[in-house]
Amino acid sequence: MEGSVLLQTAVKAAKIAADIHRRYFNKDSAVSSKSSHFDLVTRADIEAEQAIAKIIKTDYPDHNLIGEENQYEQSSSEYSWIIDPLDGTNNFAHGLPVFSVSIAVAKRGELLAGTVYDPLRDELFTAVSGGGAYLNSERISVSANKELTQSLLITGFYYDRSQAMKRTLDDIHAFFIRGIIGLRRFGSAALDLCYVACGRADGFWEFMLNPWDFAAGSLILREAGGTVTDKQGRRRGLEPGYVVASNGLIHAQMLGVVGTETKQL
Ligand code: IPD
Ligand code: CA
Ligand code: CA
Repeated sequence: MEGSVLLQTAVKAAKIAADIHRRYFNKDSAVSSKSSHFDLVTRADIEAEQAIAKIIKTDYPDHNLIGEENQYEQSSSEYSWIIDPLDGTNNFAHGLPVFSVSIAVAKRGELLAGTVYDPLRDELFTAVSGGGAYLNSERISVSANKELTQSLLITGFYYDRSQAMKRTLDDIHAFFIRGIIGLRRFGSAALDLCYVACGRADGFWEFMLNPWDFAAGSLILREAGGTVTDKQGRRRGLEPGYVVASNGLIHAQMLGVVGTETKQL
């Protein structure tokens, strides 16, 4: 299967990036900010993306790269690699041990393979289109919970502090009013999706994510039996925007909350 071969390169690159994260974690990794003072970048983000790009370009010189930390020249290739070299930079920069590397590959916009790797827990999530999802070598699947009231949800906060923040807070309030069991904010959207994929949580939503945040995680979640849509319930492509993700069974109930709370936007 084509995806399995591509996955080997993705995993090789993720593990090299993880070595860079471990080397810099809790050491001086020279933090600076990008668009705003809370949108951080560290030396680990930059070096990890360079290392990932080098590995992919060695194996697939003509494929396109889409990465968070660099603009790459695009070719006419049908293949695109979507890279978040360090998902959870804010955690990383504060010494909080929750972050990951996320790498996916798509052909004409359809995801073929993806991996999300947590370097500190040595948890490697992988999926190939049509081949199921795995955590290390174990097959994973979503939870069997059918009720929003029995659900543990995860969310994240987009860097915008105005309307997006207000709508997210409104969503959170609405979910608690509906009686969810609890809510977590881990700080790595790629891992959040994988946690839904392996049944550690039942659903995840975030107002605005970029393709590198969710590409690999959404393939892993779908291959584990879950659902990933926009807030209207349309199957999510790779364009940036709102992400609603779940075990599938509580999806309509989640959309019932975020769809009404945020429908003006
Ligand atoms: C961020 C994380 C976070 C999410 C933000 C993302 P970064 O990615 O995934 O969980 O809430 O929206 O931007 O900046 O750490 O790669
Ligand atoms: Ca990210
Ligand atoms: Ca990042």
